[in-house]
Amino acid sequence: MPDAIVAEGLVKHYGRRVRALDGLDLTVPEGTVTALLGPNGAGKTTTVRVLTTLLVPDAGRATVAGIDVLARPRALRSRIGASGQYAAVDEYLTGFENLEMVGRLYHMGTRRSKERARELLERFRLSDAADRPVRGYSGGMRRRLDLAGALVANPPVLFLDEPTTGLDPRARLDLWDVIEELVAGGTTLLLTTQYMEEADRLADAIAVIDRGQVIARGTADELKSMVGGDRIELTVDHTDNLAVAQRALAPLADGEIHVEPGLRRLVVPVSDGSQALVAAIGKLSDEGVRIQDVGLRRPSLDDVFLTLTGHEAEETADDAGEYGQGGKAGGGGRPGAVPEADRPEESDPAREVEAIEAMEGRSR
Ligand SMILES: Nc1ncnc2c1ncn2[C@@H]1O[C@H](COP(=O)(O)OP(=O)(O)O)[C@@H](O)[C@H]1O
Ligand SMILES: [Mg+2]
Repeated sequence: MPDAIVAEGLVKHYGRRVRALDGLDLTVPEGTVTALLGPNGAGKTTTVRVLTTLLVPDAGRATVAGIDVLARPRALRSRIGASGQYAAVDEYLTGFENLEMVGRLYHMGTRRSKERARELLERFRLSDAADRPVRGYSGGMRRRLDLAGALVANPPVLFLDEPTTGLDPRARLDLWDVIEELVAGGTTLLLTTQYMEEADRLADAIAVIDRGQVIARGTADELKSMVGGDRIELTVDHTDNLAVAQRALAPLADGEIHVEPGLRRLVVPVSDGSQALVAAIGKLSDEGVRIQDVGLRRPSLDDVFLTLTGHEAEETADDAGEYGQGGKAGGGGRPGAVPEADRPEESDPAREVEAIEAMEGRSR
């Protein structure tokens, strides 16, 4: 399978101090979904901006859909769709008008643009809201509209930058459904996210990014087993039984068993969760140890980060809405675009502005 996205050795500085990309390598095979998973500040948005021609890297090379990103940005722009943190919809236009305008920007002609707008509104369950100004839309509706905007020209390669960050759980599930339908059609997708669960559900492969580098790559299951598979957490009836339980469960453990005497609890890393759970219960019953509580949990993003990088992912629920999406966005016609696009930029601002206008001109 040829690669729809190839990035090699991308480096990007902001000013003298920030090395946002530090030799990033990434490939995404055609027709597959790769999630770029990492905490805030890892370099996800910078990667997407480089790959979508919005930002010129200091070093490295990239091709998308077979087109050299640096050499032929204009040619590339008509072959990709992008949506996310820097994306924009016009607050004062209706959903229909927004999409129609994108069609015209792509020179699709009035009739085809209207048709396509209607098609997409239907597909993204926005038909009922089609004729209402976007400023009355909920966070989830804006994201769906934004995503629809990225699809107007039917691009073979799509970039979604944290499509569900800041959304409430229901809106997130809705958007996941929509994205799943989308990729079932064979679109190549690079998706960035802070959520293990999102990567797990949507992506064929996950690239873990930290401090501007891809530090691990694999399927969700592969990454989880890298950090020790699942964990059995069990509480025994009596402190005296902790040692017995620990000895009995040692053969099942895929790493060190963690004992918390105060809670009469054992945490046992295992590789085949459900089978190990059944075996563990059997072994304890053989030993006459009564179990008060037992459960199986998968490693969290924090477990993965801790193992891979030695530091926590740092992400908390509070940070998740940092970019003001999900209805918190202020005026200015640029929901979800607040900080990043407006930050001072060192590299080639003229080129940036031109590129942003080409892709997001619908907001102006
Ligand atoms: N326009 C900018 N000016 C200065 N620093 C920036 C700018 N954009 C991003 N950064 C910094 O670069 C690093 C990577 O940022 P970013 O790519 O936005 O990460 P992510 O999208 O993973 O949160 C962070 O340290 C961030 O603060
Ligand atoms: Mg980002």
